[in-house]
Amino acid sequence: MSAFPDDFTWGVATASYQIEGAVEEDGRGESIWDRFSHTSGKILTGENGDVACDHYHRWPADIELMKELGVDAYRFSIAWPRIVPAGDGDVNQAGLDFYDRLVDELLASGITPYPTLYHWDLPQALEDDGGWLNRETAEAFADYAEVVVGRLGDRVADWMTLNEPWCSSLLGYMAGFHAPGLTGVDNGLNAAHHLLLAHGLAVPRIQAAGCNAGIVLNMDHMQPASAHPLDHAAADLDDQKFGRWFLDPVSGRGYPQGAVDDYGWDMEVVHPGDLDVIATPIDQIGLNYYSIRIVRSDDVSEADRTEVVDPPTEYTEMGWMVAPHGLVPLLERLRDYGYERIYITESGAAYPDEPDEHGHVDDQDRISYLDRHFKAVSDAIDRGVPVKGYFVWSLMDNFEWGFGYSKRFGLVRVDYDTLGRIPKASYSWYRDHIAGVAGPPQDQTQRADPPAGR
Ligand code: GCO
Repeated sequence: MSAFPDDFTWGVATASYQIEGAVEEDGRGESIWDRFSHTSGKILTGENGDVACDHYHRWPADIELMKELGVDAYRFSIAWPRIVPAGDGDVNQAGLDFYDRLVDELLASGITPYPTLYHWDLPQALEDDGGWLNRETAEAFADYAEVVVGRLGDRVADWMTLNEPWCSSLLGYMAGFHAPGLTGVDNGLNAAHHLLLAHGLAVPRIQAAGCNAGIVLNMDHMQPASAHPLDHAAADLDDQKFGRWFLDPVSGRGYPQGAVDDYGWDMEVVHPGDLDVIATPIDQIGLNYYSIRIVRSDDVSEADRTEVVDPPTEYTEMGWMVAPHGLVPLLERLRDYGYERIYITESGAAYPDEPDEHGHVDDQDRISYLDRHFKAVSDAIDRGVPVKGYFVWSLMDNFEWGFGYSKRFGLVRVDYDTLGRIPKASYSWYRDHIAGVAGPPQDQTQRADPPAGR
Protein backbone atom coordinates (compact mmCIF):
# COMPACT_ATOMS: atom_id res chain seq x y z
CA MET A 1 0.00 0.00 0.00
CA SER A 2 1.30 3.39 -0.95
CA ALA A 3 1.34 6.43 1.23
CA PHE A 4 -0.75 9.31 -0.03
CA PRO A 5 1.03 11.74 -2.36
CA ASP A 6 2.56 14.75 -0.61
CA ASP A 7 0.20 17.15 -2.33
CA PHE A 8 -2.90 15.15 -1.38
CA THR A 9 -5.60 17.46 -0.02
CA TRP A 10 -7.14 16.53 3.34
CA GLY A 11 -10.29 18.40 4.13
CA VAL A 12 -13.64 18.55 5.83
CA ALA A 13 -17.03 19.34 4.32
CA THR A 14 -20.27 21.05 5.34
CA ALA A 15 -23.25 22.65 3.59
CA SER A 16 -24.99 25.97 4.09
CA TYR A 17 -28.48 24.97 5.21
CA GLN A 18 -27.11 22.23 7.43
CA ILE A 19 -24.92 24.52 9.55
CA GLU A 20 -25.54 28.23 9.04
CA GLY A 21 -28.83 29.08 10.73
CA ALA A 22 -29.54 32.85 10.66
CA VAL A 23 -32.18 32.24 8.06
CA GLU A 24 -33.63 35.72 8.24
CA GLU A 25 -30.46 37.70 8.66
CA ASP A 26 -28.80 40.24 6.42
CA GLY A 27 -31.36 39.99 3.68
CA ARG A 28 -31.38 36.24 3.12
CA GLY A 29 -34.44 35.08 1.20
CA GLU A 30 -36.50 32.00 1.95
CA SER A 31 -35.27 28.68 0.58
CA ILE A 32 -37.19 25.54 -0.27
CA TRP A 33 -35.65 23.89 2.78
CA ASP A 34 -37.02 26.60 5.07
CA ARG A 35 -40.47 26.02 3.65
CA PHE A 36 -40.18 22.23 3.65
CA SER A 37 -38.77 21.92 7.16
CA HIS A 38 -41.52 24.18 8.51
CA THR A 39 -44.16 22.00 6.89
CA SER A 40 -45.60 19.57 9.39
CA GLY A 41 -44.61 15.95 8.90
CA LYS A 42 -41.72 16.52 6.53
CA ILE A 43 -38.82 16.24 8.99
CA LEU A 44 -38.74 13.13 11.17
CA THR A 45 -38.01 15.13 14.31
CA GLY A 46 -40.05 18.21 13.41
CA GLU A 47 -36.84 20.25 13.43
CA ASN A 48 -35.55 22.88 11.00
CA GLY A 49 -32.41 24.79 10.06
CA ASP A 50 -33.41 28.14 11.60
CA VAL A 51 -30.48 28.01 14.02
CA ALA A 52 -28.65 24.84 12.96
CA CYS A 53 -25.05 25.10 14.24
CA ASP A 54 -25.24 28.90 14.20
CA HIS A 55 -22.21 28.86 11.96
CA TYR A 56 -23.31 32.19 10.49
CA HIS A 57 -22.23 33.77 13.78
CA ARG A 58 -19.66 31.25 14.97
CA TRP A 59 -17.63 30.85 11.79
CA PRO A 60 -14.41 32.31 13.24
CA ALA A 61 -14.42 29.63 15.95
CA ASP A 62 -15.23 26.99 13.35
CA ILE A 63 -12.23 28.06 11.29
CA GLU A 64 -10.13 27.80 14.47
CA LEU A 65 -11.31 24.20 14.83
CA MET A 66 -10.24 23.48 11.26
CA LYS A 67 -6.91 25.15 11.83
CA GLU A 68 -6.21 23.00 14.86
CA LEU A 69 -7.31 19.96 12.89
CA GLY A 70 -4.67 20.82 10.33
CA VAL A 71 -6.84 20.41 7.23
CA ASP A 72 -5.59 21.70 3.91
CA ALA A 73 -9.02 22.54 2.59
CA TYR A 74 -12.63 23.24 3.51
CA ARG A 75 -15.58 22.35 1.33
CA PHE A 76 -18.66 24.44 2.13
CA SER A 77 -21.63 25.61 0.14
CA ILE A 78 -22.96 29.02 -0.68
CA ALA A 79 -26.60 29.73 0.05
CA TRP A 80 -28.17 31.04 -3.14
CA PRO A 81 -30.95 32.82 -1.17
CA ARG A 82 -28.33 34.86 0.69
CA ILE A 83 -26.85 36.10 -2.58
CA VAL A 84 -29.95 36.48 -4.75
CA PRO A 85 -32.85 36.39 -2.28
CA ALA A 86 -35.54 36.14 -4.97
CA GLY A 87 -33.46 33.67 -6.98
CA ASP A 88 -33.24 36.00 -9.93
CA GLY A 89 -32.54 39.71 -10.10
CA ASP A 90 -31.29 41.82 -7.22
CA VAL A 91 -28.02 40.81 -5.61
CA ASN A 92 -27.69 41.08 -1.83
CA GLN A 93 -24.25 42.46 -1.06
CA ALA A 94 -24.51 41.49 2.61
CA GLY A 95 -24.79 37.85 1.58
CA LEU A 96 -21.69 38.09 -0.56
CA ASP A 97 -19.89 39.87 2.27
CA PHE A 98 -20.42 36.89 4.56
CA TYR A 99 -18.67 34.47 2.21
CA ASP A 100 -16.05 37.07 1.40
CA ARG A 101 -15.04 37.25 5.06
CA LEU A 102 -15.15 33.48 5.38
CA VAL A 103 -12.86 33.03 2.39
CA ASP A 104 -10.39 35.64 3.60
CA GLU A 105 -10.17 34.09 7.03
CA LEU A 106 -9.75 30.60 5.59
CA LEU A 107 -6.92 31.78 3.39
CA ALA A 108 -5.31 33.63 6.28
CA SER A 109 -5.47 30.32 8.18
CA GLY A 110 -3.80 28.38 5.39
CA ILE A 111 -7.00 26.54 4.44
CA THR A 112 -8.02 26.38 0.78
CA PRO A 113 -11.73 27.08 0.17
CA TYR A 114 -13.63 24.62 -2.07
CA PRO A 115 -17.11 26.12 -2.40
CA THR A 116 -20.12 24.39 -3.90
CA LEU A 117 -22.67 26.71 -5.45
CA TYR A 118 -25.77 24.62 -4.91
CA HIS A 119 -26.28 22.26 -2.01
CA TRP A 120 -30.07 22.10 -2.32
CA ASP A 121 -31.23 25.43 -0.84
CA LEU A 122 -33.11 26.80 -3.86
CA PRO A 123 -34.70 30.22 -3.35
CA GLN A 124 -38.38 29.60 -2.63
CA ALA A 125 -39.33 32.37 -5.06
CA LEU A 126 -37.96 30.25 -7.90
CA GLU A 127 -39.82 27.21 -6.62
CA ASP A 128 -43.00 29.26 -6.73
CA ASP A 129 -42.37 29.53 -10.48
CA GLY A 130 -41.80 25.81 -10.87
CA GLY A 131 -38.34 25.41 -9.37
CA TRP A 132 -36.26 22.81 -11.16
CA LEU A 133 -39.24 21.90 -13.32
CA ASN A 134 -38.85 25.32 -14.93
CA ARG A 135 -36.08 25.61 -17.49
CA GLU A 136 -35.50 29.24 -16.52
CA THR A 137 -34.17 28.13 -13.14
CA ALA A 138 -31.12 26.79 -14.97
CA GLU A 139 -30.44 30.24 -16.44
CA ALA A 140 -30.97 31.87 -13.06
CA PHE A 141 -28.41 29.48 -11.57
CA ALA A 142 -25.78 30.40 -14.14
CA ASP A 143 -26.38 34.11 -13.44
CA TYR A 144 -26.07 33.51 -9.69
CA ALA A 145 -22.89 31.49 -10.22
CA GLU A 146 -21.38 34.33 -12.22
CA VAL A 147 -22.15 36.82 -9.45
CA VAL A 148 -20.50 34.67 -6.78
CA VAL A 149 -17.46 33.81 -8.85
CA GLY A 150 -17.18 37.47 -9.84
CA ARG A 151 -16.82 38.36 -6.18
CA LEU A 152 -14.69 35.47 -4.88
CA GLY A 153 -12.97 34.11 -7.97
CA ASP A 154 -9.87 36.24 -7.42
CA ARG A 155 -9.18 34.17 -4.30
CA VAL A 156 -10.99 30.88 -4.88
CA ALA A 157 -9.65 28.66 -7.65
CA ASP A 158 -11.83 25.56 -7.38
CA TRP A 159 -15.59 25.56 -7.70
CA MET A 160 -18.23 22.88 -7.72
CA THR A 161 -21.57 23.69 -9.33
CA LEU A 162 -24.06 21.20 -7.88
CA ASN A 163 -23.96 18.83 -4.97
CA GLU A 164 -25.61 15.47 -5.60
CA PRO A 165 -28.22 16.35 -8.22
CA TRP A 166 -29.57 12.83 -7.73
CA CYS A 167 -30.87 13.92 -4.32
CA SER A 168 -32.15 17.34 -5.30
CA SER A 169 -34.07 15.92 -8.27
CA LEU A 170 -35.07 12.38 -7.44
CA LEU A 171 -35.52 12.77 -3.68
CA GLY A 172 -36.96 16.27 -4.05
CA TYR A 173 -39.21 15.98 -7.11
CA MET A 174 -39.74 12.23 -7.59
CA ALA A 175 -39.86 10.64 -4.14
CA GLY A 176 -40.91 13.69 -2.12
CA PHE A 177 -38.51 12.96 0.75
CA HIS A 178 -36.58 16.20 0.25
CA ALA A 179 -37.64 19.75 -0.53
CA PRO A 180 -39.77 20.75 -2.32
CA GLY A 181 -41.50 17.43 -1.64
CA LEU A 182 -42.99 16.77 -5.07
CA THR A 183 -43.53 13.32 -6.51
CA GLY A 184 -43.71 11.66 -9.89
CA VAL A 185 -41.19 9.98 -12.16
CA ASP A 186 -41.37 12.62 -14.88
CA ASN A 187 -41.04 15.41 -12.34
CA GLY A 188 -37.87 13.84 -10.99
CA LEU A 189 -36.31 13.28 -14.41
CA ASN A 190 -37.28 16.70 -15.73
CA ALA A 191 -35.86 18.37 -12.61
CA ALA A 192 -32.67 16.34 -13.05
CA HIS A 193 -32.33 17.56 -16.63
CA HIS A 194 -32.72 21.19 -15.64
CA LEU A 195 -30.20 20.75 -12.85
CA LEU A 196 -27.71 19.29 -15.29
CA LEU A 197 -28.44 22.13 -17.70
CA ALA A 198 -27.80 24.60 -14.87
CA HIS A 199 -24.45 22.93 -14.29
CA GLY A 200 -23.53 23.08 -17.98
CA LEU A 201 -24.53 26.73 -18.27
CA ALA A 202 -22.54 27.70 -15.18
CA VAL A 203 -19.29 25.93 -16.10
CA PRO A 204 -18.14 28.41 -18.78
CA ARG A 205 -19.04 31.35 -16.56
CA ILE A 206 -16.80 29.94 -13.84
CA GLN A 207 -14.02 29.12 -16.24
CA ALA A 208 -14.26 32.59 -17.83
CA ALA A 209 -13.15 33.96 -14.46
CA GLY A 210 -10.01 31.82 -14.70
CA CYS A 211 -11.29 29.27 -12.19
CA ASN A 212 -11.72 25.50 -12.23
CA ALA A 213 -15.23 24.06 -12.35
CA GLY A 214 -16.62 20.66 -11.51
CA ILE A 215 -19.66 18.82 -10.19
CA VAL A 216 -20.21 16.62 -7.15
CA LEU A 217 -22.03 13.34 -7.72
CA ASN A 218 -23.10 10.73 -5.21
CA MET A 219 -22.69 7.15 -6.26
CA ASP A 220 -23.21 3.84 -4.57
CA HIS A 221 -21.43 0.83 -5.96
CA MET A 222 -24.14 -1.50 -7.28
CA GLN A 223 -23.11 -5.01 -6.44
CA PRO A 224 -25.04 -7.90 -8.04
CA ALA A 225 -26.33 -10.26 -5.36
CA SER A 226 -24.96 -13.29 -7.18
CA ALA A 227 -23.29 -14.45 -10.36
CA HIS A 228 -26.70 -14.84 -12.04
CA PRO A 229 -26.87 -12.76 -15.26
CA LEU A 230 -30.24 -11.31 -14.25
CA ASP A 231 -28.77 -10.00 -10.98
CA HIS A 232 -25.98 -8.44 -13.02
CA ALA A 233 -28.51 -6.88 -15.37
CA ALA A 234 -30.51 -5.50 -12.44
CA ALA A 235 -27.38 -4.00 -10.89
CA ASP A 236 -26.45 -2.45 -14.19
CA LEU A 237 -29.89 -0.88 -14.54
CA ASP A 238 -29.76 0.55 -11.02
CA ASP A 239 -26.31 1.91 -11.76
CA GLN A 240 -27.65 3.65 -14.86
CA LYS A 241 -30.49 5.16 -12.85
CA PHE A 242 -28.27 6.37 -10.02
CA GLY A 243 -24.67 7.35 -10.65
CA ARG A 244 -24.60 7.14 -14.42
CA TRP A 245 -27.80 9.13 -14.89
CA PHE A 246 -25.70 12.17 -14.05
CA LEU A 247 -22.16 11.07 -14.78
CA ASP A 248 -22.85 9.97 -18.35
CA PRO A 249 -24.41 13.20 -19.66
CA VAL A 250 -21.79 15.32 -17.87
CA SER A 251 -19.14 13.16 -19.53
CA GLY A 252 -20.61 13.54 -23.03
CA ARG A 253 -22.25 10.11 -23.15
CA GLY A 254 -25.88 11.22 -22.98
CA TYR A 255 -28.50 9.64 -20.74
CA PRO A 256 -28.04 5.88 -20.29
CA GLN A 257 -30.49 4.32 -22.74
CA GLY A 258 -31.47 1.31 -20.63
CA ALA A 259 -32.64 3.62 -17.86
CA VAL A 260 -34.42 5.99 -20.27
CA ASP A 261 -36.35 3.01 -21.63
CA ASP A 262 -37.08 1.56 -18.22
CA TYR A 263 -38.44 4.87 -16.98
CA GLY A 264 -40.33 5.45 -20.22
CA TRP A 265 -39.13 9.06 -20.10
CA ASP A 266 -40.43 11.18 -23.01
CA MET A 267 -37.39 13.50 -22.92
CA GLU A 268 -39.51 16.45 -24.03
CA VAL A 269 -37.54 18.82 -21.81
CA VAL A 270 -34.31 17.90 -23.59
CA HIS A 271 -33.93 20.60 -26.24
CA PRO A 272 -31.52 20.36 -29.15
CA GLY A 273 -28.06 21.32 -27.94
CA ASP A 274 -28.78 20.67 -24.25
CA LEU A 275 -26.61 17.58 -24.09
CA ASP A 276 -23.68 19.55 -25.52
CA VAL A 277 -24.14 22.23 -22.87
CA ILE A 278 -24.29 19.60 -20.13
CA ALA A 279 -21.12 17.99 -21.48
CA THR A 280 -19.08 21.20 -21.35
CA PRO A 281 -15.67 19.91 -20.26
CA ILE A 282 -15.01 20.29 -16.55
CA ASP A 283 -11.74 20.54 -14.68
CA GLN A 284 -12.47 18.22 -11.76
CA ILE A 285 -15.10 15.88 -10.42
CA GLY A 286 -16.24 15.11 -6.89
CA LEU A 287 -17.53 11.78 -5.63
CA ASN A 288 -19.60 11.56 -2.48
CA TYR A 289 -19.32 8.01 -1.27
CA TYR A 290 -21.22 6.35 1.54
CA SER A 291 -22.14 2.77 0.69
CA ILE A 292 -22.91 -0.01 -1.74
CA ARG A 293 -26.20 -1.61 -2.70
CA ILE A 294 -26.61 -5.30 -3.21
CA VAL A 295 -28.97 -5.69 -6.14
CA ARG A 296 -31.24 -8.65 -6.75
CA SER A 297 -33.37 -9.24 -9.79
CA ASP A 298 -37.00 -10.01 -8.92
CA ASP A 299 -36.92 -12.69 -11.59
CA VAL A 300 -34.35 -14.97 -9.97
CA SER A 301 -35.22 -17.48 -7.27
CA GLU A 302 -32.76 -17.97 -4.44
CA ALA A 303 -32.29 -21.56 -5.60
CA ASP A 304 -31.01 -20.34 -8.97
CA ARG A 305 -28.38 -18.07 -7.48
CA THR A 306 -24.75 -19.14 -7.45
CA GLU A 307 -21.78 -17.33 -5.95
CA VAL A 308 -24.09 -15.40 -3.69
CA VAL A 309 -22.53 -12.27 -2.24
CA ASP A 310 -22.80 -11.99 1.51
CA PRO A 311 -23.77 -8.45 2.45
CA PRO A 312 -21.49 -6.53 4.76
CA THR A 313 -22.47 -7.12 8.37
CA GLU A 314 -21.77 -3.64 9.61
CA TYR A 315 -24.08 -0.66 9.31
CA THR A 316 -23.90 3.00 10.20
CA GLU A 317 -26.68 4.69 12.10
CA MET A 318 -28.25 5.65 8.77
CA GLY A 319 -28.67 1.93 8.10
CA TRP A 320 -26.09 2.15 5.34
CA MET A 321 -23.73 -0.80 4.86
CA VAL A 322 -20.12 -0.10 5.69
CA ALA A 323 -18.34 -1.13 2.49
CA PRO A 324 -15.11 0.72 1.78
CA HIS A 325 -14.26 -1.67 -1.05
CA GLY A 326 -17.06 -0.17 -3.14
CA LEU A 327 -15.04 3.01 -3.52
CA VAL A 328 -12.44 1.37 -5.71
CA PRO A 329 -14.59 0.41 -8.73
CA LEU A 330 -16.32 3.80 -8.66
CA LEU A 331 -13.00 5.62 -8.64
CA GLU A 332 -11.69 3.39 -11.40
CA ARG A 333 -14.73 4.27 -13.47
CA LEU A 334 -14.05 7.99 -13.06
CA ARG A 335 -10.48 7.36 -14.18
CA ASP A 336 -11.72 5.36 -17.16
CA TYR A 337 -14.10 8.17 -18.11
CA GLY A 338 -11.03 10.36 -18.42
CA TYR A 339 -11.14 12.46 -15.25
CA GLU A 340 -7.73 13.59 -14.12
CA ARG A 341 -8.62 15.45 -10.93
CA ILE A 342 -10.90 13.41 -8.74
CA TYR A 343 -11.90 14.36 -5.22
CA ILE A 344 -13.76 12.43 -2.59
CA THR A 345 -15.91 15.42 -1.74
CA GLU A 346 -17.78 13.60 1.03
CA SER A 347 -17.33 10.42 2.96
CA GLY A 348 -18.13 9.78 6.57
CA ALA A 349 -20.60 8.14 8.91
CA ALA A 350 -23.33 8.75 11.44
CA TYR A 351 -23.05 6.73 14.63
CA PRO A 352 -25.08 6.83 17.85
CA ASP A 353 -22.48 8.90 19.69
CA GLU A 354 -22.52 8.60 23.47
CA PRO A 355 -21.01 11.68 25.11
CA ASP A 356 -19.39 11.39 28.55
CA GLU A 357 -20.16 13.93 31.26
CA HIS A 358 -17.93 16.48 29.52
CA GLY A 359 -19.65 15.96 26.19
CA HIS A 360 -16.66 14.07 24.80
CA VAL A 361 -17.40 11.23 22.40
CA ASP A 362 -15.02 8.29 22.06
CA ASP A 363 -16.14 7.41 18.53
CA GLN A 364 -13.87 4.52 17.69
CA ASP A 365 -16.49 3.30 15.18
CA ARG A 366 -16.11 6.50 13.13
CA ILE A 367 -12.32 6.29 13.33
CA SER A 368 -12.39 2.74 12.05
CA TYR A 369 -14.79 3.75 9.27
CA LEU A 370 -12.54 6.58 8.13
CA ASP A 371 -9.37 4.54 8.39
CA ARG A 372 -10.77 1.83 6.13
CA HIS A 373 -12.10 4.31 3.59
CA PHE A 374 -8.76 6.10 3.48
CA LYS A 375 -7.14 2.73 2.75
CA ALA A 376 -9.59 2.09 -0.09
CA VAL A 377 -8.64 5.44 -1.61
CA SER A 378 -5.01 4.57 -1.24
CA ASP A 379 -5.72 1.27 -3.07
CA ALA A 380 -7.37 3.21 -5.87
CA ILE A 381 -4.38 5.53 -6.12
CA ASP A 382 -2.17 2.44 -6.38
CA ARG A 383 -4.32 1.39 -9.32
CA GLY A 384 -3.62 4.64 -11.08
CA VAL A 385 -6.70 6.64 -10.13
CA PRO A 386 -5.83 10.35 -9.85
CA VAL A 387 -7.52 11.04 -6.52
CA LYS A 388 -6.40 14.45 -5.36
CA GLY A 389 -8.16 14.89 -2.07
CA TYR A 390 -10.60 13.63 0.55
CA PHE A 391 -13.12 15.72 2.44
CA VAL A 392 -14.57 14.08 5.53
CA TRP A 393 -18.29 14.56 5.99
CA SER A 394 -18.56 16.38 8.26
CA LEU A 395 -16.62 18.91 10.29
CA MET A 396 -19.41 18.95 12.86
CA ASP A 397 -22.79 17.44 13.63
CA ASN A 398 -25.48 19.25 11.70
CA PHE A 399 -29.00 19.25 10.27
CA GLU A 400 -29.30 15.94 8.46
CA TRP A 401 -32.15 16.90 6.15
CA GLY A 402 -35.25 14.72 6.65
CA PHE A 403 -33.71 13.28 9.83
CA GLY A 404 -33.31 16.63 11.55
CA TYR A 405 -30.53 16.65 14.15
CA SER A 406 -31.01 12.99 15.02
CA LYS A 407 -28.05 11.74 12.97
CA ARG A 408 -24.58 12.92 13.86
CA PHE A 409 -21.83 12.81 11.23
CA GLY A 410 -19.39 15.26 12.82
CA LEU A 411 -15.77 15.01 13.86
CA VAL A 412 -16.90 17.64 16.33
CA ARG A 413 -19.95 17.19 18.53
CA VAL A 414 -22.41 20.04 18.61
CA ASP A 415 -24.34 20.45 21.84
CA TYR A 416 -27.60 21.75 20.41
CA ASP A 417 -28.63 23.26 23.76
CA THR A 418 -25.58 25.48 24.11
CA LEU A 419 -24.29 25.30 20.51
CA GLY A 420 -20.91 24.46 22.03
CA ARG A 421 -18.46 22.46 19.93
CA ILE A 422 -16.69 19.49 21.49
CA PRO A 423 -14.12 17.65 19.36
CA LYS A 424 -14.64 13.88 19.31
CA ALA A 425 -11.92 11.22 19.40
CA SER A 426 -12.20 11.05 15.60
CA TYR A 427 -11.17 14.71 15.39
CA SER A 428 -7.92 13.99 17.25
CA TRP A 429 -7.36 10.86 15.20
CA TYR A 430 -7.89 12.72 11.91
CA ARG A 431 -5.56 15.49 13.12
CA ASP A 432 -2.88 12.87 13.81
CA HIS A 433 -3.57 11.19 10.49
CA ILE A 434 -3.07 14.44 8.59
CA ALA A 435 0.09 15.11 10.58
CA GLY A 436 1.25 11.59 9.70
CA VAL A 437 1.43 10.35 13.28
CA ALA A 438 -1.84 8.43 13.72
CA GLY A 439 -1.63 4.99 15.25
CA PRO A 440 -3.94 2.16 14.15
CA PRO A 441 -7.58 2.51 15.21
CA GLN A 442 -8.20 0.81 18.54
CA ASP A 443 -10.95 -1.61 17.71
CA GLN A 444 -10.32 -2.39 14.08
CA THR A 445 -9.41 -6.00 14.65
CA GLN A 446 -12.80 -6.72 16.21
CA ARG A 447 -14.67 -5.69 13.10
CA ALA A 448 -16.01 -7.98 10.44
CA ASP A 449 -14.38 -7.32 7.11
CA PRO A 450 -16.78 -6.56 4.30
CA PRO A 451 -16.91 -9.20 1.56
CA ALA A 452 -14.61 -8.85 -1.40
CA GLY A 453 -15.74 -6.62 -4.25
CA ARG A 454 -17.17 -7.71 -7.57
C1 GCO B 1 -25.52 14.29 0.99
C2 GCO B 1 -25.26 15.62 1.37
C3 GCO B 1 -24.94 15.82 2.80
C4 GCO B 1 -25.45 14.81 3.78
C5 GCO B 1 -24.53 13.63 3.89
C6 GCO B 1 -25.01 12.57 4.84
O1 GCO B 1 -24.61 13.75 0.49
O2 GCO B 1 -26.61 13.78 1.18
O3 GCO B 1 -24.27 16.11 0.59
O4 GCO B 1 -25.56 17.03 2.95
O5 GCO B 1 -25.60 15.37 5.02
O6 GCO B 1 -24.37 13.03 2.66
O7 GCO B 1 -26.23 12.06 4.44
